[in-house]
Amino acid sequence: MKIDGKSYRTIWPGADGASAVIIDQTRLPHRLETVTLRTVEDAAHAILSMQVRGAPLIGAAAAYGLAIAIQRDASDRGIDEATAFLAKQRPTAVNLRWALDEVRGAVMPLPTEERAGAAFAKAQAIAEDDVETCRSIGVHGLGLIRSIAAAKADGAPVNILTHCNAGWLACVDWGTATSPIYHAHDAGIPVHVWVGETRPRNQGAALTAFELNGHGVPHTLIADNAGGHLMQRGQVDLCIVGADRVAANGDVANKIGTYLKALAAHDTGVPFYVALPYSTIDWQLASGGDIPIEERNADEVLLMQGQLDDGAIARVALTAPGTPAANPAFDVTPARLVTGLITERGIAPANRNGLLSLYPERLEAAS
Ligand code: MRU
Repeated sequence: MKIDGKSYRTIWPGADGASAVIIDQTRLPHRLETVTLRTVEDAAHAILSMQVRGAPLIGAAAAYGLAIAIQRDASDRGIDEATAFLAKQRPTAVNLRWALDEVRGAVMPLPTEERAGAAFAKAQAIAEDDVETCRSIGVHGLGLIRSIAAAKADGAPVNILTHCNAGWLACVDWGTATSPIYHAHDAGIPVHVWVGETRPRNQGAALTAFELNGHGVPHTLIADNAGGHLMQRGQVDLCIVGADRVAANGDVANKIGTYLKALAAHDTGVPFYVALPYSTIDWQLASGGDIPIEERNADEVLLMQGQLDDGAIARVALTAPGTPAANPAFDVTPARLVTGLITERGIAPANRNGLLSLYPERLEAAS
């Protein structure tokens, strides 16, 4: 997608063929800066500090991180250590483990001298695959938006509420929740997006609003607490959010606050869809109760980052000194509150049969 008219992805291979370059998302929307990942420590830091974030992008960054590690040490032991190191940086998004498994699967059968090249090629393939997967999610979600638009009078815009950033900045390109929105906008369907700011890190305000603006999609930023009110007033036609992990029964872990949006949508009869790629499904988990929920630093709640009048980026305290804070970063929305799952293979009900109808190759493993 575009920033200031120029096409970007969130991660790409370095010119030396041995590193990866990322957009530093901790500096957005005020600064567009890139960082080169040259070591596995660089990649781990980028994931933990959220220079890269969003489930699919965490996966792609981890894949590059492991490939970079393998250039230094291609032994089984070295690969095991690098895998464990990267895997522990963020626990909730299952794409991290998925991507590491993909790279390992590609290199472990090979002789050590062939592993580095193969790992880098696999990381690039994972990134490319994410672009196509997210594009397909958009094509399927477009039908949904189109049918809501068709039922509206006088070409009124379809009002879509989203949470956090499940946009192209959370992926390699297109996004998951935003891909149907970009496809609808590009197809000439009038859309308007309610962007929840998404405390504590404000990924909605800092990232989703930034990228929708970059693509010219009409949007309005709202405080997280405004979502339910807008739904009650009939000002939301559809909610689309992303996911960090979907259990085999359709329960959805996503950014903290998603559950409250789903409850409000359920109470007000607003359709609540979750957009996700196949790499976000955890087939090993029967339900969402066992999804590990990341507890992040309390400073993210106690402090807020922004740009000062003089242009400097600064963090300011929101509370009196000594205020205790808790910071669970994700919550689990039960499948019963989810109208449907939008994937690269189509839209299905959020339950085991719905998922298996899209991924029938999993039937054997599931039975
Ligand atoms: O903590 P983050 O910013 O990595 O969390 C990302 C999310 O929860 C997103 O909302 C998203 O749905 C998952 S990535 C498409």
